[in-house]
Amino acid sequence: MKDRVILGGRAGEPLAKEVRRILLADGKAEVSRFRDGEVSVQLDLGDQGNVRGKDVFIINPTHMPHDNIFDLLMLTDAVRRSLPYRITLVVPYLAYNRQDRKTAPRTPISAAVMMKLLANSGADGILLLDVHSEATLGMLDPLKVDHLYGSTLAVPHFRSILKDPFVIAAPDHGAAGRARSYAKRLGQPEDWVIFDKVRTRPGETDRVTLIGDVAGKDVLLVDDMIDSGGTMMKDAIAAKANGARRVLAYATHGILSEGAVKKFDECKALDGLTITDSISHAPRFLRTRRLKIDVLPIAPLVARAIHNIHSETSISKLLD
Ligand code: R5P
Repeated sequence: MKDRVILGGRAGEPLAKEVRRILLADGKAEVSRFRDGEVSVQLDLGDQGNVRGKDVFIINPTHMPHDNIFDLLMLTDAVRRSLPYRITLVVPYLAYNRQDRKTAPRTPISAAVMMKLLANSGADGILLLDVHSEATLGMLDPLKVDHLYGSTLAVPHFRSILKDPFVIAAPDHGAAGRARSYAKRLGQPEDWVIFDKVRTRPGETDRVTLIGDVAGKDVLLVDDMIDSGGTMMKDAIAAKANGARRVLAYATHGILSEGAVKKFDECKALDGLTITDSISHAPRFLRTRRLKIDVLPIAPLVARAIHNIHSETSISKLLD
């Protein structure tokens, strides 16, 4: 079998390091910036020397997209020119995926631009986690796409935390399928509710109306990402106003922009927040006074997926 090499961009190196440790794999790249902001990449593979003929995995999430997308693309180019056997991008958080259609005249479909960049990066395949719009994955042709779900980590976590009676909540209509699936896997196939969200400007949630019954129940809000936190906080307040006993929030991707952590900490309607480390934050960034934030590590799941891609065995078996 070909040797595995696991590289990380600047945002992906903490995960890459942990995956290398789990899989006893090698790989190192120096990714930095020139003074004008351009990306500088140097593969540094120690005794191995090079990536020729090797199975290379390049890990980088793409939050703070304009830095992290370029890290990923330049790393991929450096590897491609070094004649590997295969390149698989590992993008635990995929940016621009919310902009998957025209919502007004004279606007871009930014998801399509992003997918074209990745499809033409020189990679052979891509491993993703909980993308916002699965319908856009076809735009990645000809890459071979593997898609993991945050529920693989979140469902076992919440089995021991939720107390009966409980209900799963979709923060908006787009999240209904996810909420239904969590409800089924947590043993409540019939019981889930939805918040009707009306948004007028990006990054601002305007009005939420609860559809369903939460009175006297634990409510688990499940979403793919928390950005400013506006959606989750408004939903938590609405749930408590409708008699919820406890409101817990889960999102796979904790972008947590614009002081979201502080705002969550101050939002007394919310009783707990769980994210994964698909986007890696320093512990001090997540420090709170009141709210408990749990971070589920994705490295074991990503390492198993990389192992299966490398050994050409099924990924779907990992998802239960
Ligand atoms: C949008 O449909 C997404 O699934 C999230 O609900 C949204 O991006 C969260 O954004 P924010 O935390 O800024 O409300």
